[in-house]
Amino acid sequence: MTKHLLSSGDLSLEDINNIFDTAGRFHGRGRFLKGRTVVNLFYEPSTRTRTSFELAAKRLGADVVNFDVSTSSVEKGEDLRDTVTTLESLGADVLIVRHPNRGVPQQVTGWVDCSVINAGDGTREHPTQALLDLYTIREHFGKLAGLRVGIVGDVHHSRVANSLYFALAKVGAESILIGPRKLVSSRPGPYISYDLESNLPELDVCYMLRLQTERRQYITTDYTRHELKEYGKKFGLTKERAAMLPDHAIIMHPGPMNRGVEIDSDVADSPRSVIRDQVSNGVAVRAAVLSWL
Ligand code: CP
Repeated sequence: MTKHLLSSGDLSLEDINNIFDTAGRFHGRGRFLKGRTVVNLFYEPSTRTRTSFELAAKRLGADVVNFDVSTSSVEKGEDLRDTVTTLESLGADVLIVRHPNRGVPQQVTGWVDCSVINAGDGTREHPTQALLDLYTIREHFGKLAGLRVGIVGDVHHSRVANSLYFALAKVGAESILIGPRKLVSSRPGPYISYDLESNLPELDVCYMLRLQTERRQYITTDYTRHELKEYGKKFGLTKERAAMLPDHAIIMHPGPMNRGVEIDSDVADSPRSVIRDQVSNGVAVRAAVLSWL
């Protein structure tokens, strides 16, 4: 039995296929979690992940608590260990944890007996995002193995890029990390490129990452207004660049988007963009993860 989901690197190919089969079979509905309590414990903002976990858990019949850190005793100095053990004493069966610090969900597993799902820990991992991304790609192409996926932009700060990279390797797809030298060169990988345009004609999937301006304290150089403009000029997915992709290629983004920086609005909203499918699939895939755990 698997108890936690902390990293997409922990998933076997069989696990991934099980989750996708479950997501496809019941499309996020069933009574698997009747009588169970799921707690969303988010120390960072979220639109998609928190809402889709809430919808998924409710569709499975669970009681759902959206723990509000800003109005809790965390504001009076309660430490993380006391918060999570208190929530478990109140009946939590699953803790869904998002935190700005790397490794916190893993740390929480040492303090509680209930299941823990990593909903994003700093720059480290966001495994359910990777699962919904793969599910969306498979839904579109009918396969994953052999596809070439360009992961473009702020790889250095991206937990989404990490989890996606691990998961793509598991299913036999090829990743290429593309971005400015200072935002990709710290990552290991079979293939890294500092040039977007030369790679576009070879991609099946063009996966644009959010430029994470709020995490810039982790790198030595701040983004100035000029740098943001330069970034967009070299690595932004404009209509002209999107036209360099093969006709069959799709465009993805985990959200939230910086429209006009890493992706132009007319590209994000174009027919080849599957960004809204990613969001919709988040509910079915997260429901499948909850029932699988
Ligand atoms: N992709 C993602 O994690 O979005 P949220 O921050 O809105 O949850």
